[in-house]
Amino acid sequence: MRAAMYDRYGSPDVLRIEEVPVPTPGPGQVLIEVAATSVNLSDWEGLVGSPFYARLGGLRSPRRGILGSDIAGRVTQLGEGVTRFRAGDEVYGDNLALLGGFAEYAVAAESALAPKPAALTFAQASTLPQAGAIALQGTVGAAPGRRVLINGGGGGSGSFAIQLAKRLGAHVTGVDNGHKLDFMRALGADDVLDYRREDFTRREPYDLVLDLVASRSVFAYRRALARGGRYRCAGGTVRALLRVLTVGVLAARVTGRRMGVLVVRPGPASFTQLAALCVAGDVVIHVDRTYALDDVAEAMAHVGQGRALGKVVVEMG
Ligand SMILES: NC(=O)c1ccc[n+]([C@@H]2O[C@H](COP(=O)([O-])OP(=O)(O)OC[C@H]3O[C@@H](n4cnc5c(N)ncnc54)[C@H](OP(=O)(O)O)[C@@H]3O)[C@@H](O)[C@H]2O)c1
Repeated sequence: MRAAMYDRYGSPDVLRIEEVPVPTPGPGQVLIEVAATSVNLSDWEGLVGSPFYARLGGLRSPRRGILGSDIAGRVTQLGEGVTRFRAGDEVYGDNLALLGGFAEYAVAAESALAPKPAALTFAQASTLPQAGAIALQGTVGAAPGRRVLINGGGGGSGSFAIQLAKRLGAHVTGVDNGHKLDFMRALGADDVLDYRREDFTRREPYDLVLDLVASRSVFAYRRALARGGRYRCAGGTVRALLRVLTVGVLAARVTGRRMGVLVVRPGPASFTQLAALCVAGDVVIHVDRTYALDDVAEAMAHVGQGRALGKVVVEMG
């Protein structure tokens, strides 16, 4: 099969398309003929080896030679003990534990997968698992009368989070680079900010902040919270995440606020609810661009360099 391989951390140039053996599913796993895999910031982080958590399991060189976690495709082979799927089933899921999605075939645990809704294309379904889980869990607490801020709102998770928070009746502010402001407005954001020009922590306080790109001090984040408010970060620099987990938790608590790191629960229950909203037309999937497997490096650069509006998908063709 053809796959986008890499054996050292670096820029997209380290990726090369190679012919490699088709993997064999182990117990509880299935082999999938991959139709589409969306690019997440976690793929970019795994490519460049930064932030440091992206090197867990592979300090000097990557643990897995093929990136790509959000896959959609057809089951072609069952490992021992698989009961939920049969050959030919159309599935999608976040294969973060095994990766391998930027290839013609990938092995995934059946527990990571859900049947693909017929109303969604493979490309659309591949956009949902990781970004959808972050957005769904990160917007818990959004409600009418509450002010919600999504930092990194124009990216993959943010584009879903804005829509979900808005649907729950909150007043939503999206923060991202200036190129994504109109996009966030179109998703329903009431207010948008260019992070290169404005500091959201020095504006009005918010009841809920979902931060996809934490990099600031916990005191800045605490300043952004109204009394009783909650800040959660899903990604960012290791330094910022550690500070939130330590100083942040305490500093927020003594002032009647809450701060923490959002650790997303894996598995289909985390994203199938969003898929149902997309099928019903209540949430829109915005695929900015699709690329062929040969152009994975370009697709990664498009996301990693912050140019993507919403999601980017690689189709295996
Ligand atoms: N907690 C968990 O359980 C869990 C699980 C999986 C993944 N993750 C993490 O969650 C994050 C999800 O990101 P994603 O896939 O939604 O990323 P994405 O699609 O790349 O979106 C991030 C957005 O933030 C913008 N941005 C960068 N710096 C910013 C700043 N200082 N202020 C405001 N916006 C800024 C980016 O644009 P520019 O760069 O152009 O400015 C981009 O539009 C990743 O870090 C991933 O590793 C967490």
